Amino acid sequence: MSQPHVAIAGATGAVGQELLRVLEKRNFPVGELTLLASARSAGKTMQFRGKDYKVQELKEDSFRGVNIALFSAGGSISKKFAPLAVQDGAVVVDNSSAFRMDPDAPLVVPEINPEDIQNHKGIIANPNCSTIIMLMAVYPIHKLFPVKKIIVSTYQASSGAGAVAMEELRTQSRDFLDGKEIKPQVFPYPIAFNVFSHNSSMDVENGYNQEEMKMVKETHKILHDDSIRVSPTCIRISTFRAHAESIHLELEKKADLESVRKALSNFPGVQVIDDRKANYFPMPLEASDQDDVFVGRIRYDVGNSDGSELELFCCGDQILKGAALNAVQIAEKLL
Ligand code: A2P
Repeated sequence: MSQPHVAIAGATGAVGQELLRVLEKRNFPVGELTLLASARSAGKTMQFRGKDYKVQELKEDSFRGVNIALFSAGGSISKKFAPLAVQDGAVVVDNSSAFRMDPDAPLVVPEINPEDIQNHKGIIANPNCSTIIMLMAVYPIHKLFPVKKIIVSTYQASSGAGAVAMEELRTQSRDFLDGKEIKPQVFPYPIAFNVFSHNSSMDVENGYNQEEMKMVKETHKILHDDSIRVSPTCIRISTFRAHAESIHLELEKKADLESVRKALSNFPGVQVIDDRKANYFPMPLEASDQDDVFVGRIRYDVGNSDGSELELFCCGDQILKGAALNAVQIAEKLL
């Protein structure tokens, strides 16, 4: 595949627009380009490498001649159209959760389990954004000091709920400061100047929401190890596009912090920002529009005396490494 015909399903969305930018920035060898969205967007113009492309309505025959199809239009669209794209000969990289737990679909973070890509049967799944960002911070440590248990709390940006959610944060912020009434539409509660439990559906039996269970199950699939205990608390905050995560790790053996720092610094896609004297650590604003996941607050758990428990804080751009960049990195492995 030297100059593949690339299609983007959901091209007008938050991730879709970023997919275009990432393909351009990384000089992905695009032969033909097909941009697909709902009927609402048909005829709209988008730019790629200085050229105008018309958005087309996503239809059953949209993937004729397409080699690589990047999907980011939601789970139900992926469920319906990804198998049709595969039938027409395309390899699909899917950003939705539709195929992540499908045993036939590899779930891939290219820095962690690139070898899984070769087992694909037409569809490769892009993991959940919080999972990707967490594992970018955890995996370099896990390789040296195997992880037994992860306790993670997320501080998630509005972008995870799409372009309309980012717009809701913008509008609500203005309205709040202007003293106007806040009327939530995309999120169930006010997103501006607020913090609330993740808006995905809640399992009333175990008390975990869907986002949290994705972090549990996807970690097991990506690391090929169901024995790692993962206990997440996923929270929405009023940032635009970078997630933050506070992570507690229980390791199988004592870790030395110098090796941990070195492993993180040397890992592709990770930057260590960990200046205790200056109280300078990863921040969502600085992680926004950045490819790398920032990791800091690297320290031993103060209540544990044998050095086998660590604390970390990380931030990563949810639209980039959490979605579009990771998907394009997967697509690069198909060339
Ligand atoms: P559209 O802009 O025409 O609604 P986001 O994740 O930012 O909300 O973006 C969702 C993406 O999925 C958008 O590109 C959106 O297109 C697209 N989409 C939503 N519903 C459909 C549909 N029924 N058919 C095709 N694309 C869809």
